Amino acid sequence: MRLSKASSLFLVAATCAEAATTIIPNTSFNSQSAFDAEWSYNYPWGTDHNGAARMDQSQVGLSGGVLTLTATPKSGLGGSLKYLSGAIHSKDKFTVAKGGGYDFTGEFKATTTKGTWPAFWLNAASGWPPEIDMAEWKGSGKISFNTFNTSSSVTAKDVNYPSPGNFHSIKCEIRDVNGKDISVKFYLDGSLVTTQYGGDYIGKAQYLIINLQMEGSSGSPGPTGNTQYQVRNLQAVSYNP
Ligand SMILES: *[C@@H]1O[C@H](CO)[C@@H](O)[C@H](O)[C@H]1NC(C)=O
Ligand SMILES: *[C@@H]1O[C@H](CO)[C@@H](O)[C@H](O)[C@H]1NC(C)=O
Repeated sequence: MRLSKASSLFLVAATCAEAATTIIPNTSFNSQSAFDAEWSYNYPWGTDHNGAARMDQSQVGLSGGVLTLTATPKSGLGGSLKYLSGAIHSKDKFTVAKGGGYDFTGEFKATTTKGTWPAFWLNAASGWPPEIDMAEWKGSGKISFNTFNTSSSVTAKDVNYPSPGNFHSIKCEIRDVNGKDISVKFYLDGSLVTTQYGGDYIGKAQYLIINLQMEGSSGSPGPTGNTQYQVRNLQAVSYNP
């Protein structure tokens, strides 16, 4: 049967609409029960990583649909640890399938003060890489977008980050390119900033992580008072077939 042009267009539109599946709804910070359905506390591997903050559930707050992570100076933690701070990671793992991809969107109020290292990133659920830094702020006044092939093969883009005291929207579009590699489009406040490519990402699971690390790559000393990092309207949508 030969379809009329109008019904062909209708079928294309219906197919595209059906392909989008919400994985994390933009209401996950609206209540503790909505949060618990989507998120776990700390990093997938525990409380410590690559800076001076130890993560603790007490530093994670929810109010009015806003997630607030607070870093607080604390002595007696041992080693080079100087702060208690907050991290959360998704219960879901994100695996780009052949012909598919994801959109991650949200609004972020992130500090660029020396010694503060807020981040919004995807990290390999087992082994490493893949890693996509959908946004990180390394205490320099800039925002950074990075895609790793290996520790020495990384595409990195740093751009100026205006008015860190305001919320800014971030969108990261990840898509299959050739059944093996992915493209990543990074948007800040609705404008495309850069497009990067990751090799061999198809079929590899990643966790979504939101954390406020301190010092490490963001310099030291960090602040002597509390630091906050806030996120709202976070959403993850799958385009996997
Ligand atoms: C949240 O998601 C719903 C359904 O996808 C959408 O209608 C609504 O506009 C979104 N709200 C915000 C603030 O993005
Ligand atoms: C990573 O791999 C992809 C796919 O092969 C490639 O397009 C990209 O240029 C590589 N990145 C770097 C930094 O070499």
